[in-house]
Amino acid sequence: RGPDTYSPTGQPTGARRGRMAQDGAYLTTAQGARLYDTDHSLKAGPRGPVLLQDHHLREKITHFDHERIPERVVHARGAAAHGVFRSYGSAAGITKAGFLAEGVETPVFVRFSTVLGSRGSADTVRDTRGFATKFYTDEGVFDLVGNNIPVFFIQDAIKFPDVIHAGKPHPDREIPQAQSAHDTFWDFVTLHTEATHHTLWNMSDRGIPRSYRMMEGFGVHTFRLVNAEGATTLVKFHWKPKLGVHSQVWEEAQITAGADPDFHRRDLADAIEAGAFPQWELGVQTFPDTEDQMFEGIDLLDPTKIVPEELAPVRPIGLMTLNANPSNFFAETEQVAFHVGHLVPGIDVTNDPLLQGRLFSYLDTQLSRLGGPNFGQLPINRTHAPVNDMLRDGMHQTAVHRGVAPYRPNSLDGGCPFLAGADTGAYIEVPAEVPAARKVRDAAVSFDDHFSQPRLFWLSMSPTEREHIVDAYTFELGKCWEQAVKERGLQVLANIDADLCRQVAAGLGLPAPEPTVPPAAVEPSPALS
Ligand code: HEM
Repeated sequence: RGPDTYSPTGQPTGARRGRMAQDGAYLTTAQGARLYDTDHSLKAGPRGPVLLQDHHLREKITHFDHERIPERVVHARGAAAHGVFRSYGSAAGITKAGFLAEGVETPVFVRFSTVLGSRGSADTVRDTRGFATKFYTDEGVFDLVGNNIPVFFIQDAIKFPDVIHAGKPHPDREIPQAQSAHDTFWDFVTLHTEATHHTLWNMSDRGIPRSYRMMEGFGVHTFRLVNAEGATTLVKFHWKPKLGVHSQVWEEAQITAGADPDFHRRDLADAIEAGAFPQWELGVQTFPDTEDQMFEGIDLLDPTKIVPEELAPVRPIGLMTLNANPSNFFAETEQVAFHVGHLVPGIDVTNDPLLQGRLFSYLDTQLSRLGGPNFGQLPINRTHAPVNDMLRDGMHQTAVHRGVAPYRPNSLDGGCPFLAGADTGAYIEVPAEVPAARKVRDAAVSFDDHFSQPRLFWLSMSPTEREHIVDAYTFELGKCWEQAVKERGLQVLANIDADLCRQVAAGLGLPAPEPTVPPAAVEPSPALS
């Protein structure tokens, strides 16, 4: 199964793709030598001992011994599908990205995931879900590496190892495998109150989706689009599922996690196999690219904040249809490598400190997860644009590069000249101003408010949704061993809403504390309500 089992658009070929393991009438070694027997080792006589000289035995077992690669450090559990993205052209005025021009169709590969559980954990646990999309555009790969929740736990990537250490199972007993109900998680999110908003979404029905097909997706950060004239617009990306947003109730999620831990991956694969192709509309919220990158009092560089759709409606820009299951889980779903730095001309990043850290992290982790620097050559990661990168050698190099001078320009092998300049269609970073400033580690003051948007979220819930949130907090905090952690959890809730805090406190049999944040900061601003 090599690259030739993929169509020019990157889809696996054949009706029931890849049902046949390998071609050839005879079983062979990896070197193609025909085998006489693969069930018996070479021995000194029928009763042994086994001979070290048996190359076939050693090749077969050695390969097996190395079949596993490290699972992703986060988002290890996932399921994926191939599909196509068709652009409406409605973003063509704000971005020169070719794949967003009217009517352009682009192959995509999407991987959905939980965040905290290991590769073999259950699907329907309470967690954030990853929603990562690889667009194989004519101008290179664009990855939109998002989640099903529009905000994140932390405002600065330097805390990512900490929040993940806190969320992963306890280091002593490695319990729980894939849920947030434990002391380290609640210790972290109550000590770092910027996590309040994301945690509240997790405790809502959004934390237990009914199906990957019924989840929204969010790019979370603010990105910067640039059009052919060089004009820039700030945007937030949204995926809206055609099937609507649906969740399980907690009891259902418990039952499915036990009875069918593969519930979500089965649902996705079955739907696609049955021809019920899931669809999402991609949309953008747009904001003027002002000097302060604020919108209606909201800091667009703070990944713990949303911009309410009442203030900035989501404008649809294209439709994605997932229409083919992977034919080999390892080759595609496991080896796919997403990266927020995979950008195409017309799409650029902003100074969001979480996004800036992510720009370092993905390539770095994939170097060890996928065994060296050449994982871009794996079929699932290969761009559909021509590659002329001057990168050479390294572990798992599969290309046979020609020419004697792997650098440009050169006067020896007549390779393509290096053309600089905007007219070549090159990726050029927007020459955004970098404010002259002192080096500091402090966060912006505009990152300080951790409670008004959680309060807005709570107030926007229906009575049933509120009941689910109260139940979730009561259950989760009730599972913490440390009294101090429970009490700090209630303090955070008091700062969101007195009624929410009172109900959870009653469930835990503890007194409800008074808010510690001045009420003025707790009330949603008129612009948000
Ligand atoms: C993996 C989303 C923040 C590091 C992933 C994946 C998604 C995702 C969807 C799974 C990709 C896949 O399916 O292969 C997000 C979102 C974030 C965020 C939406 C915040 C808005 C961060 C931060 C860091 C980070 C701050 C580190 C500083 C990683 C790493 C992986 C990963 C190391 C594993 C990648 C791999 O092994 O291929 N993330 N992430 N993420 N993320 Fe993030």
